[in-house]
Amino acid sequence: MHGAQLTIDPAFAIGPADRRLFGSFVEHMGRCVYGGVYEPGHATADPLGLRRDVLDLTRELGVSVVRYPGGNFVSGYRWEDGVGPVGDRPRRLDLAWKTIETNAFGLNEFMTWADQAGVETMMAVNLGTRGVQEACDLLEYTNHPGGTQLSDLRRKHGVEDPYGVKLWCLGNELDGPWQVGHKTADEYGRLAAETARAMKLIDPSISLVACGSSNSRMPTFASWEATVLEHTYEHVDYISAHTYYDPSDGDRASILASAIDMDGFINDVVATADHVAAKLRQKRKLKISFDEWNVWYESRLKADLDRRGWVEAPALIEDDFTAVDAVVVGDLLITLLRHADRVGVACQAQLANVIAPIRTRNGGPAWRQSIFHPFALTARYARGTVLRTEPVSPSYETRRYGDVPVLDTVALHDEESGELVVFAVNRSEEDLPLDLDLRGLPGLRGVEHLTLAAGDDPEAINTEAEPDRVTPRALPTPTSDGGRCSVRLPAVSWNVLRFGTRP
Ligand code: AHR
Repeated sequence: MHGAQLTIDPAFAIGPADRRLFGSFVEHMGRCVYGGVYEPGHATADPLGLRRDVLDLTRELGVSVVRYPGGNFVSGYRWEDGVGPVGDRPRRLDLAWKTIETNAFGLNEFMTWADQAGVETMMAVNLGTRGVQEACDLLEYTNHPGGTQLSDLRRKHGVEDPYGVKLWCLGNELDGPWQVGHKTADEYGRLAAETARAMKLIDPSISLVACGSSNSRMPTFASWEATVLEHTYEHVDYISAHTYYDPSDGDRASILASAIDMDGFINDVVATADHVAAKLRQKRKLKISFDEWNVWYESRLKADLDRRGWVEAPALIEDDFTAVDAVVVGDLLITLLRHADRVGVACQAQLANVIAPIRTRNGGPAWRQSIFHPFALTARYARGTVLRTEPVSPSYETRRYGDVPVLDTVALHDEESGELVVFAVNRSEEDLPLDLDLRGLPGLRGVEHLTLAAGDDPEAINTEAEPDRVTPRALPTPTSDGGRCSVRLPAVSWNVLRFGTRP
């Protein structure tokens, strides 16, 4: 394998890495809530029923913001069902996941959980079966200080101060025919614009996310965004993007190149948003809220849903992630960071059990899946300014994306601490020698090279019995000679290369 080269210079800045890029997602789906973040009677549960072991792992994961309560679930949800005395809450049919929703967990439990997890919250309103009034009601309950029926109801429920939730999603995936309350782009665009206008009258400090396409393969992709934004541009702050990559067909070369697709998706949404801005003579640039992304063995979902009737919190899409999947997740994070100038929020879907970095057993332990590690390390070390890099790399052939570079990278420079971090993926089945030119940042020394290498055991997974089979390991610390440094990236690996100024 020929080597690759990377030159890093702080003069070429993309922009600051927003902490909101390290978001996650808690949906009332499968065992994400029930048996995931919440399990009264569990050995680690607090008096409210929040699993402390999951809270600990959430903090360790470094999650910054959590989207709630869906997802497809929100499109049939009545938020009022989930507040007030638990004994009075109704049991409902959840049409999205063919599940019985007990409503034992609702808005106030989620807010308490988020406070303990130390995360910001991002709420979604139901624009599937509901509309402007219900969205306003929820915002009044959540953010209005008091003296009105719904803000006083919150106080009656024991929450004196308003939560001050800043991020709000105007519905979920309403372009999708599977969505309860599915709409055309014009229908949704009008409803989203009117809801946005009314919500900002209640609380002008909030930021709003209009629904983009459910993925870039949707037949309406791009025209959906264009139409929706023509209705909503002046009222919203973000357009959403969702994407999942399915490794089920075993085409490893292609799945390892998933970030190529995410990169193109972001470019297309940015181009569409900028086109609408030009047409509407809007100077303000819209950002993307990439509020669902992950690897997902999605082809297994139908079997999961068909297998059963109406039950509470069934195990649903509890994918076991391999070492290769972890490399892909690391690469998707690289891509999100590289677009830090236009992606302002990103949420990995989901947090616990449902295609999640954290797995649990009801009544049993919680453990880290393979994909936990690249997320946690990126959230920990991606600080400061994202730098533009132009790696020179060998390439390889993929069935889905054609010729693809084997190397993918992003670099961040933290002006305060002087630290430089490079995240790098080697998609090749062979080790990749990488030469770094760091002369633009004089005085840097190697601190650490961590790798999550899938080459030796690509299908390895973490399980309850073997929770640490897939973990990052340290490689020799990189040494720099006159600002030049050579490292070796193992076959099929995700890497963190850290440099500092201290001896
Ligand atoms: O995250 C799982 C589901 O995927 C979400 O509910 C939905 O928004 C998406 O299609």
